[in-house]
Amino acid sequence: MVAGERRISIVVASENEGTQAAEIAVHWQEEEYYHAPPSFVEQANLKDPQIFERYSIEHFPDYYKEFGEMLDWYKPWDTLLDSSNPPFWRWFVGGELNASFNCVDRHLDACKNKAALYFVPEPEKEPIIALTYQELSVQVNELAAYFRDGLNLKRGDRVTIHMPMVLELAVTMLACARLGVIHSVVFGGFSAQACADRMVDSDSSVLVTMDGYWRDGKWLDHKEKADETVRAAGKAGHAVRAVLIFERYPGEYRSSFGLVENRDIIVNDILSQYTGERVEPEHMAADDTLFLMYTSGSTGKPKAAQHSTGGYLSYVTAMSKWILDIKPTDVYWCMADIGWITGHSFIVYGPLALGASSIIYEGVPSCPDAGRPWRVAKRLGVNIFHTSPTAIRSLRKLGPEEPAKYDYDFKLMVTVGEPIEPDVWRWYYNTVGKGNVAIVDTWWQTENGGFLCSTVPALAPMKPGSTGPGVPGIHPVIYDEDGNVVPPKSGKGGNICIRNPWPGLMMGIWGDPDRYIATYYQRYCKDPESKDWQDWPYFAGDGAMQAPDGYYRILGRIDDVINVAGHRLGTKEIESAVLEVKGVAEAAVIAAADAIKGVIPEIYVTLQPGVAPSDQLQRSVVDIIVRDIGPIARPRKVWLVPDLPKTRSGKIMRRVLASISNQKDPGDITSLANPEIVEAIRRTVSE
Ligand code: WTA
Repeated sequence: MVAGERRISIVVASENEGTQAAEIAVHWQEEEYYHAPPSFVEQANLKDPQIFERYSIEHFPDYYKEFGEMLDWYKPWDTLLDSSNPPFWRWFVGGELNASFNCVDRHLDACKNKAALYFVPEPEKEPIIALTYQELSVQVNELAAYFRDGLNLKRGDRVTIHMPMVLELAVTMLACARLGVIHSVVFGGFSAQACADRMVDSDSSVLVTMDGYWRDGKWLDHKEKADETVRAAGKAGHAVRAVLIFERYPGEYRSSFGLVENRDIIVNDILSQYTGERVEPEHMAADDTLFLMYTSGSTGKPKAAQHSTGGYLSYVTAMSKWILDIKPTDVYWCMADIGWITGHSFIVYGPLALGASSIIYEGVPSCPDAGRPWRVAKRLGVNIFHTSPTAIRSLRKLGPEEPAKYDYDFKLMVTVGEPIEPDVWRWYYNTVGKGNVAIVDTWWQTENGGFLCSTVPALAPMKPGSTGPGVPGIHPVIYDEDGNVVPPKSGKGGNICIRNPWPGLMMGIWGDPDRYIATYYQRYCKDPESKDWQDWPYFAGDGAMQAPDGYYRILGRIDDVINVAGHRLGTKEIESAVLEVKGVAEAAVIAAADAIKGVIPEIYVTLQPGVAPSDQLQRSVVDIIVRDIGPIARPRKVWLVPDLPKTRSGKIMRRVLASISNQKDPGDITSLANPEIVEAIRRTVSE
């Protein structure tokens, strides 16, 4: 073990293997504190030191009124929290509002002329577009008019959006929200098959897409994926009645895939019929669904977290204000993709609800070189910058000295999605932040709507490698395997849970209430008959420890989910794709450590009797993963091995495979049914 490294042993439960011991190495020590500059503290949105007292668990749920009050309501709520049917919490019951009104219309009087969104195209020679609140309002209304009158979409219907990072993506989301249509945005980099699966699951018959876009200097023809999506959905017996295509260059259709009659519509053309139309925002109940966001879990197919209108919007607004410190005068750039929850909450809904200017960048951060983000920051006067450890690691590798060349001024920077190594944190702070910035390391999940743990930037110092305490209103607890509370601030690892419900938490899993309970509550609910919210802690699926100062350090997933470059992938999803390859008998996916992406999948495969190992087979495995899921799941290695390590009951021991890939000690393997295979696999891997 390296000096200063600590190893925390956590026993994790796996649906397949009963209880299995997993070792999670914490490769860094407790760090020194860093303090936000006084210039930041002075101007901060939240600097009331009493906040944690006001938001103590004794005051739950009353403190969340303040979150609701950040929004404009058509009708005030009668009941702040209805917790009578755990764990299906209902917030702001009786209240009515509209998310598009809160993100657009309510700013028109004061600031219709300021940029709501900037579009930064990847090709640097193309001009940046600033979309004012006024123009955003016009575009949202016209598109909503077309949705309503041209497509007969109405509240409660689902629309799937499979688009790159362009203004039209945010406009489409807000047009849906205006009508009460539920949007389901599928990450643009996901495959057609993944998009089709999500259309089928959400029973959505309209697909919104784009002809193509720029990524890493290349033009990607995206329309092809729409055609394949419709085909794949059709195979599953699901009809897609309309494919709406935005043109990346309006007036020029640039895909080489033709239009299908009676199905494909160029949105840019049709909108001329709706010029100047206004659509009254629907008065939505607080707990009407605003959107679905699919995410991977332990079991096979991705599930849709179902987010509410009032609870979600109030939560992301409060978090944007207090933790990201966004004000209407700020220019805020989050480099996440809107196809993930971070982009929904912190590119679109949160910043726009506060009337800020938010940036949508089309491409990869390092295109054409690692100075690009810093040029954008300088040019647009960005003062809040939000990204992931993977992006930071890669920008540091490609251009460690680049930030120093550009004269921009960040007041706050954000990291999200994976644990950040203290060394990487320090580069972010010293080099990107020029040593004069507040940083928040925000821990949360798709299911949560907004942050769970982070420091409040003006109230608590930063500590590299640790996220911080629960944000105001969130009360975490760590449990061991037997359901005992791990002593607070003891530095002992365990499973992190949240004691209380909160408004940003999803309302459930679309179409699968049982899975919602099984995944997030069953584990630590002492009495399933209980009607008391205190008996229903939310189980996050992450290992964590709490240091004596109350800061949490997140140790990673404890379920069968791997977090590649901050993107969640279910091992079962990848494995079931691999099993489609002819000749494959069994497949096991593990997470192999990677210097840039955190981890990358590696696949161990056994073949059916009589099938000979070949390079072609290995390639087929990679191809099918990219086809079924997308390039983000591309494995680093595919190992063809004679057998997989198994328990006596026949379960595959992925933990042992992971230790081989990561050159670690597999621990005690004597209880395996086939311990001798471990050495044989190790030889294959080290050859
Ligand atoms: C991980 C992304 C350490 C964690 C918002 C969680 C983090 C999963 C952090 C959720 C962080 C997220 N430090 N780990 N600051 N933020 N994670 O659903 O394992 O894409 O469970 O949501 O990412 O990923 P998701």
